Parts: sequence; structure tokens; C-alpha cells
Amino acid sequence: MHLKHSDRPHGPPEVTVTFVLEDPEGLTGSTDPTRTLKGGTGESLLELAMEHGINIEHACGGVCACSTCHVYIDEGADSLSEATEAEEDRVEEAPGLQRNSRLSCQCVIEGKGPIRLRVPAWNRNAVKEVPH
Ligand code: FES
Repeated sequence: MHLKHSDRPHGPPEVTVTFVLEDPEGLTGSTDPTRTLKGGTGESLLELAMEHGINIEHACGGVCACSTCHVYIDEGADSLSEATEAEEDRVEEAPGLQRNSRLSCQCVIEGKGPIRLRVPAWNRNAVKEVPH
């Protein structure tokens, strides 16, 4: 499904967001396990990732109706929008649930960062297999 882009205005890309990819090849086609990007306030982590070729699974198109965009926020959680009750209910269905689990489509950059998150290796396998 295509990512539904938010109509929120995005601030200038000045918030440092580091993505740590447990399966970089599956997500980006490259072996580099770390990507440091600049995001803007109002932008979701899923939007930022997809804009830079990090293909986090997002079966519902980013509308909080699945749990395939599950990530772990290792740093900078207070620079992100708080989880809504709908997100909390949804993320509980995700495999590998941890205290720092979030749905990347629901994490909107609000603060100055820096933000560091981990994309689990099984993320891409939740719905589809990447062709070999
Ligand atoms: S893409 Fe479905 S909940 Fe985030």
C-alpha cells in the first residue's frame, strides 16, 4: 500500500534522526546498518524513512491500522509525539513488543532530537517477502 502523506506542514530538516537497521539489505538494498538523516517537525518517522529509501513495511499506508511499521525508539522519545490510545492498542499486536516499541507512522517529530531508533530485522517480513 502507498504511504498516505500527512498534510501537516513540515518544519525545516534540522532534527537528527539515526536509523539503526537490523537488516539493512532487506530495508535499503545496502549493507550500511546505520543511516543518519535530518527530519523536520511535523514529519513522521515512517515518512522520513521512506523519503530516504528505507523501506519500512507499512501495510495500512500509515493510518494506525496495522502494526507492521513497528520500531524501537532508543533515544529521543521525548522529541516525538506521544502515543495515542489507538497506537498503544495497535502496537500491542506487534511481534517483539518492548517498552520502547512505537509505530513509526504515528511518531511525529515535535522536538529538537536527536532521535535514534532501531528497525527490527523481521519488519519487512511481516507482510511480504523481498524478492531475491
Ligand atoms: S503503517 Fe500501519 S500502523 Fe503504521
